[in-house]
Amino acid sequence: MLVELTVLFWITGLVYGSPNHPGDEQSFGYDSGELDPPHWATEYKTCSGKYQSPIDIEEDLVTKVNLPLLRFHNIDTLPTTTSIMNNGHTVVLQLNYSAPVMISGGPLTPTYKFTQLHFHWGVNDSLGSEDLINNHSYPMELHMVFTNTDYDSDSIALTKNDGLVVLASFFEITKEDNPVYSEIVNALDIIHMPDTSTFLPNGFTIRSVLPESTEHYFTYKGSLTTPPCLEVVTWIDFKHPIRLSHNQIQAFRMLRSKHGQLTHNARPVQELSGRPVWYNVGGFANLNIPNTSSGLTFDFSIFNMVMLLCCKLATLTLL
Ligand SMILES: *[C@@H]1O[C@H](CO)[C@@H](O)[C@H](O)[C@H]1NC(C)=O
Ligand SMILES: *[C@@H]1O[C@H](CO)[C@@H](O)[C@H](O)[C@H]1NC(C)=O
Ligand SMILES: *[C@@H]1O[C@H](CO)[C@@H](O)[C@H](O)[C@H]1NC(C)=O
Ligand SMILES: *[C@@H]1O[C@H](CO)[C@@H](O)[C@H](O)[C@H]1NC(C)=O
Ligand SMILES: [Zn+2]
Repeated sequence: MLVELTVLFWITGLVYGSPNHPGDEQSFGYDSGELDPPHWATEYKTCSGKYQSPIDIEEDLVTKVNLPLLRFHNIDTLPTTTSIMNNGHTVVLQLNYSAPVMISGGPLTPTYKFTQLHFHWGVNDSLGSEDLINNHSYPMELHMVFTNTDYDSDSIALTKNDGLVVLASFFEITKEDNPVYSEIVNALDIIHMPDTSTFLPNGFTIRSVLPESTEHYFTYKGSLTTPPCLEVVTWIDFKHPIRLSHNQIQAFRMLRSKHGQLTHNARPVQELSGRPVWYNVGGFANLNIPNTSSGLTFDFSIFNMVMLLCCKLATLTLL
């Protein structure tokens, strides 16, 4: 992920020149050297935390659950304006709306409001996603960032372990261009250089950039995948990928960072450290109620909630 620093400023009201990183807040990168992911923790201590993202999700090891419906609000509305920016680390899109885009339900207790979306990709089509599924990497991953509306400000949300939700979607290669993404891909020429931005002529609805099915997903607690790597994120990774052509993904690799070409921007996977990962089976499929005596020491309220729901739903299906 995520909250790339320009956006972080906007979220937190942080200013340049904080004592820790005088002059250059965005001092991280992906190429080997002092700025690469293994060195992030030198400057950003949280990046060596225990519950970091991304992770490898092993389908054999996830706990199958049947969560309430994940609900989307106002996702069929076109934004009034859409800005697209190359911030040197990724492509970030921000959308102005007459009515806010929100999500609730699924594993979430409060309601979360849409903030921005951005992408992670790799040097070629055989890798590039951040989370892996069964050690498999997809060529690109979309992150849609949402903020908990229970907190008075976005800066407070960034200090809470339920502060953010990221909806992650994987991409797979198809022969044809995906027309929904053509405006974004066409704009990449204009934002070739870092710290440049433009507006999209028409924009798109949030629904149109989601996978066709959002019923099946993995969910776990983790962190931002870019410094400062705050452990404040509930991840929801949709099982069904979005299709994009090789040429469309290739256009992202042509962008420039401050240090050269932005050929790839995926953080390597981090230790799971015993965290539970759930898979929402959707519908009323067989439930596999988590084994509480199996050493899950995590104290996530989501865990209790899932247990409760499983039992309720199990009762329902018996009726
Ligand atoms: C949102 O609208 C305001 C006012 O029209 C404009 O200044 C701003 O650039 C827009 N932001 C985005 C992300 O489109
Ligand atoms: C893709 O890039 C990775 C990382 O540089 C490399 O290991 C792999 O061989 C490449 N795959 C192809 C098909 O070129
Ligand atoms: C995933 O791949 C890594 C690197 O190739 C390997 O070390 C690890 O054992 C694999 N994990 C699983 C569960 O297969
Ligand atoms: C539940 O966990 C306990 C302790 O690890 C183990 O002995 C037991 O076999 C597990 N039960 C199932 C159904 O996995
Ligand atoms: Zn991200």
